[in-house]
Amino acid sequence: MDDSIIQGFSKYTKQQRIDALIQKYGFPEDLSKWLESFENSDISIQKIIDELSENPISTFQLPFSIAPNFVVNGKNLFFPLVSEESSVVAALGNAAGFWAKRGGFHAEVLGTEKKGQVHFFWTGNPEQLQSLFPEIRNKLLIESIFMTTKMEDRGGGISSIRLNALPQVLPNYFQLDAAFETCDAMGANFINSCLEQFGKSLQEYFKTSEKVSDDDRECEIIMAILSNYTPESRARAWVECPVSDLLEGKSESECLKFAQKFEQAIRISQADVSRAVTHNKGIFNGIDALAVATGNDFRAIEACGHAFASRNGVYSGLTDVQIQNRKFRFSIDLALAVGAVGGVTAVHPMAKMAMKILENPSAKELMMYLAVAGLASNFGAVKALVSAGIQRGHMKMHLSNIMNQLQIPEDRRTEIQTYFQDKTVSFSVVEEYWKSFGLRDTGSD
Ligand code: MEV
Repeated sequence: MDDSIIQGFSKYTKQQRIDALIQKYGFPEDLSKWLESFENSDISIQKIIDELSENPISTFQLPFSIAPNFVVNGKNLFFPLVSEESSVVAALGNAAGFWAKRGGFHAEVLGTEKKGQVHFFWTGNPEQLQSLFPEIRNKLLIESIFMTTKMEDRGGGISSIRLNALPQVLPNYFQLDAAFETCDAMGANFINSCLEQFGKSLQEYFKTSEKVSDDDRECEIIMAILSNYTPESRARAWVECPVSDLLEGKSESECLKFAQKFEQAIRISQADVSRAVTHNKGIFNGIDALAVATGNDFRAIEACGHAFASRNGVYSGLTDVQIQNRKFRFSIDLALAVGAVGGVTAVHPMAKMAMKILENPSAKELMMYLAVAGLASNFGAVKALVSAGIQRGHMKMHLSNIMNQLQIPEDRRTEIQTYFQDKTVSFSVVEEYWKSFGLRDTGSD
């Protein structure tokens, strides 16, 4: 066996993992000191973070930011956001402030149903299975009671179980398609445990029922797993104002022109996949930042959102706009499943803090806030795109990152910012310009 293949890496101590890294890449011997500098000084907190994943050697830091002025259904909130993209928080903050002066964001939840499937093969007759299914469903429900009681006490549980015969996909392929209500929890463990139990009960039914012929006793479970596509778990958010209020200090005709360009941009995102993907990426800039801050699974939220964006057979932008009777209404419809209790939300100290900042929302409230974050982010992006262009804002943040990289002292930054106000920013031009400061300083000595 190749000596470089490591066995049992997950059993290594943190120091052993770091030593392996030093050995493989030739990092300096004091690497662990450097890695430790990114860890929490409170070892009990660091332990919580380390236990979130396998094989940690340190903590990867990202900014935990606040965008204030998010007025949602009349409630004024700070949104906690985690993003590595420099312009995201600024765009959200601007959009929040803009809409706070125009009635704020409105939001509602249209459903909270979550889904999961047991995929299985059975060689018997699909019609016979349909006719046996009421009896099978009963068995599945009864035999999963030990798992559902607690959830039912909280108002949730199994909402339905259906049987789908899908021979057009694969010969003898069937699906149990189940719907669940998981209240404030994301419910992944609950759903997956129920589904696995359904699989066992189903196999036992085929083995023991006298209504099944001996030739058809075998049922092969391929997999039992929740679906991250939850089209019936939905939130909607919208903003509205008179068209004439859309641009501060501008004439009515300029506002109307802006509204029309904005609408054209939305229509393009609804029809053209190239634009739709970027448009939705901008929406998820906001959604993901809030999802990460609150310890929610942003991959699940994104996967669902993108599938939902294709629900009419064409991948489209998730937002919509209407201009009617001189009113501008901008909205988002989003399918998403989130948790407000349990999971990372309940253990990560920063996620707990983020939930406090949001005033400990229910899952439904969090769904609305995520939809609002998506709408705000998209408003900021499209507004910039159809007016000054996106680069102006991006470049400001880009410049600040470059100045950090070049370790430019604070007292020199304003001058550099002023110089680059109307110029294209790149690392090399900023570096060049910064060098010229050195020459100037030396020259004046
Ligand atoms: C950049 O992260 C996001 C944008 O490209 C989104 C958009 O184009 O709508 C600005």
